[in-house]
Amino acid sequence: MSNSVTVDTKPYEGQKPGTSGLRKKVKVFVQENYTENFIQCILDVNKTSLIGSTLVVGGDGRYLVKEVVDKIIKISAANGVSKLIVGQNGILSTPAVSYIIRKYKTLGGIVLTASHNPGGVDEDFGIKFNCSNGGPASDATTDAIYKLTTSIKQYKIVPDLNCAIDKIDVHTFQVDQRQFTVEVIDAVEDYVSYMKEIFDFPKIKALIQGTEQRKPFNVLIDAMNGVTGPYVKRIFLEELGCSEKNVRRIVPLEDFGGAHPDPNLTYAADLVEAVKEGDYDFGAAFDGDGDRNMILGRDAFFVTPSDSLAVLADNLECIPYFARGGVRGLARSMPTAAAVDRVAAARALPLFEVPTGWKYFGNLMDAGQLSLCGEESFGTGSDHVREKDGLWAALAWLSLLAHSGRSVQEMLQAHWKQFGRNYFTRYDYENCSSESCEEMMSVLERTMTSPGFVGSAHSAGGKEYVVKLADNFSYVDPIDQSVAKRQGLRIIFEDGSRIVFRLSGTGSSGATVRVYVDSYEAVSVGGAAADALGPLVSIALDISRLKQYTGRDEPTVIT
Ligand code: G6P
Ligand code: ZN
Repeated sequence: MSNSVTVDTKPYEGQKPGTSGLRKKVKVFVQENYTENFIQCILDVNKTSLIGSTLVVGGDGRYLVKEVVDKIIKISAANGVSKLIVGQNGILSTPAVSYIIRKYKTLGGIVLTASHNPGGVDEDFGIKFNCSNGGPASDATTDAIYKLTTSIKQYKIVPDLNCAIDKIDVHTFQVDQRQFTVEVIDAVEDYVSYMKEIFDFPKIKALIQGTEQRKPFNVLIDAMNGVTGPYVKRIFLEELGCSEKNVRRIVPLEDFGGAHPDPNLTYAADLVEAVKEGDYDFGAAFDGDGDRNMILGRDAFFVTPSDSLAVLADNLECIPYFARGGVRGLARSMPTAAAVDRVAAARALPLFEVPTGWKYFGNLMDAGQLSLCGEESFGTGSDHVREKDGLWAALAWLSLLAHSGRSVQEMLQAHWKQFGRNYFTRYDYENCSSESCEEMMSVLERTMTSPGFVGSAHSAGGKEYVVKLADNFSYVDPIDQSVAKRQGLRIIFEDGSRIVFRLSGTGSSGATVRVYVDSYEAVSVGGAAADALGPLVSIALDISRLKQYTGRDEPTVIT
């Protein structure tokens, strides 16, 4: 029998969730009551539905996850939550949390992750709340949480409730005359059985193992020392018959082994090298919490996330989940290249363009209008859960490859031949001064919206582009009519090429400027993106005077 106590506290400034939850340096979260405050506000936003509820709790294994799980257990017990479903050792991938919330119909879940940001005592931590549909909380909910953080005076906790989470078990406690249960579950079991329903595992296994007619398809799957390690082990080693040489970095580490667990050409460069050097037909990497993916073909042929989405969209029928349930609609975030738009048009499917952030897809999925969506930021997923899903994307690609008998590169070439190609690149300038980046964005917005900008011609590298539309993107959700304003400055040219500027919403310090460039070619599809987009990139840097404002000659990352 334990009793809750009420602890006096004071608000902390800046507990405003970004694109994907509250993300700060570990040293910020360990300040006295900082984490407790935020957890209390997450619980409070649920008002009376919290009493007697069940919540899912898990994280990506980074530094501080276990301590914060312990705090969530103690604070939830004191606030009338009836049950927590916790991943063993605090481990659950973000898509797995989404699935478990849906499967067990819980009130929601708390995900402990800073996603693709580095981990460790000097690095990042994060807390995100997902709602009963399994998706990240809406803007209205995160705004309400933030509001609560600005006036919090007390939180409730059961200080002497200690619960081991290292073994699969069910623990029950008596708290303030009520029963409180913590169920520690196998982190991968539910998710893996769901993947086996969605995909044809024997078919993927036959591809990987080879047949008398076909040599084995050699894959290299990189968990980047993030949360997907145990999932990769179960799926690829135990279910699909891969060997140790087909997987890398599958042990989750608190600091990701020093890696920056973001699957792109810069931060997963060693996977790129390994695929190039080895005799591999396919490479895939996932980020810290398992929702992002990068797909490579033989010789590390890179599939841009925008193309990945389009190719998947055009081949979904070979995946049992879609063969059974059909495909309702397609969607992408605004900065994502428009390759998928052409597939939607060819298949007469609705196409939605939403702001950056997976949460914007949720309403459309819940309303049964959206089946597959993706973002240029290495996110791909479907309505099987309400998060993007890295492992799902790799299994989807392997399904397509098994079905078509083609290589990754052949899939892309056939796609471009049929639909034309949207060349795409993104330049990131990380850790710049927030002040000068804000200023750059507001000056740019003024320039773009001043009379005469629409219709103006811009040239570079012997090419000329005429502005057709320039605005700060805003979005009206077709389902609940909620409005998201100021979601990125976009310049659309008469030939359909686009330049988009955004400040990142997922960093933990300073500002990151993202410049996205997308240009369509109907026939000339075989070139290098850097060549095709060079002129537009220099126009983008000129118009924004980016070098002047950031003081940077080169971007930190190019994808
Ligand atoms: C997270 C979200 C994505 C979003 C991305 C954008 O990964 O889950 O949905 O696309 O952040 O990040 P940014 O840093 O550009 O705001
Ligand atoms: Zn992530």
